[in-house]
Amino acid sequence: MKSRTLISDLPSKMGETVTIAGWLHRLRDMKNFGFAIIRDRSGLVQAVLSPEQTEQLRGMQVETVLKLSGKVVKKQSKDKDANEVEVQVESMEILSPVLDTPPVEINNRDLDVNLDTLLDNRVVTLRHPKQRAIFRVQAALVRGYRSYMERQGFTEIFFPVLGGAASEGGAEFFTLDYYGREATLSQSAQLHKQITMGVYEGVYGLSYSFRAEKFGTSRHLTEFNQLEFEMGFVEEMEELMEVEEAVIREMFATVERECATEIELLVVTLPPLGEKFPRLTLKAALAAYRDEGGVDETKEPDLSPAAEKWLSTVWAPKHFGSGFVFVTDWPPSKRPFYAKVDPKDPENTLTFDLIGFGSEITSGGMRINRYDEQVQRLKDKGLNPADFGDYLMMHKYGIPPEGGFGIGLQRLTQNVLQLPNIKEATIFPRDVQRLRP
Ligand code: 4AD
Ligand code: MG
Repeated sequence: MKSRTLISDLPSKMGETVTIAGWLHRLRDMKNFGFAIIRDRSGLVQAVLSPEQTEQLRGMQVETVLKLSGKVVKKQSKDKDANEVEVQVESMEILSPVLDTPPVEINNRDLDVNLDTLLDNRVVTLRHPKQRAIFRVQAALVRGYRSYMERQGFTEIFFPVLGGAASEGGAEFFTLDYYGREATLSQSAQLHKQITMGVYEGVYGLSYSFRAEKFGTSRHLTEFNQLEFEMGFVEEMEELMEVEEAVIREMFATVERECATEIELLVVTLPPLGEKFPRLTLKAALAAYRDEGGVDETKEPDLSPAAEKWLSTVWAPKHFGSGFVFVTDWPPSKRPFYAKVDPKDPENTLTFDLIGFGSEITSGGMRINRYDEQVQRLKDKGLNPADFGDYLMMHKYGIPPEGGFGIGLQRLTQNVLQLPNIKEATIFPRDVQRLRP
């Protein structure tokens, strides 16, 4: 629509006659004239309708799509949702009439529905300004990620989803019939991003990951995205954590710069970043949880969800002013076959998780780059090297010492916006029960 003005631009058009287009968000029919709240992708504005125009809307429901022309004037009423200006409508065209009342009221300040109702009616609930805001913030996080990676001269890779081998182990993968053969859906771009280390030295990309999770939890989806990263000629794992910390800072800066309205609307404060994200070993993390948190899980080779939460929302903010904490040095039993075992300690791997304001948002670490070592590691993990021909070909023909990480995009969005369930941070979530819309 060529002559259209976005609602957010109206304050700069005071006194002018403009054309706006959007959805009928709310209608107040006042005997003599009507007030319509119009919503477009940039915001809400009040439109003042004549009795004839109000009559034209008789029988129409909210969400009717309209095109309106009129004069921009200072707002008379005190509707706090809308702009500081209003439009005195001169002409109106109905672009798409809506005759049925939407299944969920989306014109209130808050969408007061439970998660199932929210998602069953996603087509409509997504239009609520607060729902819209969540995915604007998510897009800004990705924009910050991409912009940082591009500046480093890294190459964006588009990874396949259909494949043969499970990369993250376990039984948590989906299989499907592929012309009579069995194919799997990618659990992560792990193996492919490593293969590109023979060429680009630094790569990134947004991948699709699938996990056949058996239970629904507030942190797990069956389909999600990872912000992937892999870098060659790495000497110390610290170099990888530095990249991750820097990219997260840029992602936050992008949200602050470009999503101030959304953050305000969602009534959240972004988690603190502090001067430097603390780094501590798994053993030290468990000891802190015991000594300061009062919960002894030091016998576990892992962090429980409660420990992750405590470390990133209590311990790290208190001692480092940061909602992020790197936990390093995981036992080999807890890491996949590609993880580099510490040459100084066979009971340790050179890997890390980043816990971000509530739960794990990233796993990463150094990988095995030598052929013999990788073959042996596969065997130690009870896997058959013959099933990993393509993967081992890269080791055979030379890849540098390397490492990387994968950030769970929906997990990060959930934690940044402090949403109780990861499905609220997923535009069209899939879980054990849900395959629609
Ligand atoms: O920890 P994960 O399984 O690690 C990998 O896939 C490695 N290939 C990453 C690497 O480069 N070494 O998954 C990475 C992240 C997790 O930290 C979490 O944020 C997210 O992906 N994630 C999930 N998000 C939603 N639903 C699930 N079922 C998830 N599983 C992992
Ligand atoms: Mg992990």
